[in-house]
Amino acid sequence: MPARLVSVINMKGGVGKSTTSVSLAETLGLHHRRKVLVIDLDPQTNASIMIAGPDKWNELREAERTLDFYFEAYALQQKPKPFKGLIEHKVTDLKSAPDVSLCAAAPEFRMVERDLIESFVKRGFHIDAIQKWICERFAQGLKSVVNEMDYILIDCPPGISLFAEAAIIAADVILVPTIPDYVSRLGLISFRKRALRLINERRGAPSSLFVVATKYDETMNLHRSEAGLLKDNLGEAMLDVRIPQHVDIAKAAEWSEFPRTFEQKYGEMAPIVRKLGEEFVARMEKAPAR
Ligand SMILES: Nc1ncnc2c1ncn2[C@@H]1O[C@H](COP(=O)(O)OP(=O)(O)OP(=O)(O)O)[C@@H](O)[C@H]1O
Ligand SMILES: [Mg+2]
Repeated sequence: MPARLVSVINMKGGVGKSTTSVSLAETLGLHHRRKVLVIDLDPQTNASIMIAGPDKWNELREAERTLDFYFEAYALQQKPKPFKGLIEHKVTDLKSAPDVSLCAAAPEFRMVERDLIESFVKRGFHIDAIQKWICERFAQGLKSVVNEMDYILIDCPPGISLFAEAAIIAADVILVPTIPDYVSRLGLISFRKRALRLINERRGAPSSLFVVATKYDETMNLHRSEAGLLKDNLGEAMLDVRIPQHVDIAKAAEWSEFPRTFEQKYGEMAPIVRKLGEEFVARMEKAPAR
C-alpha cells in the first residue's frame, strides 16, 4: 500500500508543529515498526535539525541534498536531481535506529520560493497555474518514494504559502497541532475553513483533518475549558491525547551525540508521545484511503 501523506500544519507559529512531526515520526518508527519519512518544508529547518542533528544536516546541505535544490533546478530551468536522492535514511538519535528518514530543508528555500514565483509571474502565469505547477512537481517527487514508506509526514512552515497550500492539497490527512487557548481556537477555526475549501476546490480525493492539543497546561482553567470546547466543536476530529507543556518535550528536541532510548529521550513524556502514535494509527486505519 502506498504511504499515507500527512501534512502537519497550522497557520499559527510556535504551536508545536515541528515537535509533533518529529515525535510522531519516532514513535511510529519505533513502536509501530512503520517506515516514516519526514519532509521538512520549513526554511527554519527545525525538524531537520531536531531529527538528524546539526552535523548530519550540514552534511546534507553541503552535498546539495536539501529540498531547495529540487525546486531551484526547476526555477533555473535545469533538470532537477532525483527527489529520492535527497532522502537520508535512519536519521534519529534513538538507540534502536527506527526506520525514520528525512528530506531536509535549508534557509535558502525562502529565496527559491520567491524566485520560482517571480520567474513564473514574469512569464505571465496566473497564481493558480503556479500553484498547480508546484503541486505537480511535489507529486512527481513523492511518487518516487511513496511505495517505499508507510507514512510521509510533512512539517509545514507557519503561515500560508504556495508550498504550504500544496502540502494541504496533497495530504491524505492534515494534522493540526494547536494550543488550547482562545486566540489559537479562533485561528484554528479560520484555518480549518480555508484548508477545507482548498481541499474541496483542488483535491479530487477525500482527506481527513485531525487536531491535537499541544503545550497543554492542566493547571490552567482556560486550557481545560478550551480543550473541552475544541472537543465539542470538532468531535472525532479532535484527538483525545493532549501533549502537555513539559520541559521533557522541549529537551527531547535537542540532538544527542549518544544514541538514547525513547524513554531517555522523552523522559516523563514518553508514554504521552507513545499514546499520540497509538491514537494516530487507530485514526489512520479509519481514515479514507487514496
Ligand atoms: N509540549 C511542549 N512542551 C514544552 N515545550 C514545547 C512543547 N512543544 C513545543 N515546545 C517548544 O516550543 C517551541 C516551538 O515548538 P515547535 O518548533 O515544535 O513549534 P512550531 O509550530 O513548529 O513552530 P514554527 O511555527 O516556528 O514552525 C520549541 O522551542 C519547542 O521545543
Ligand atoms: Mg516548525
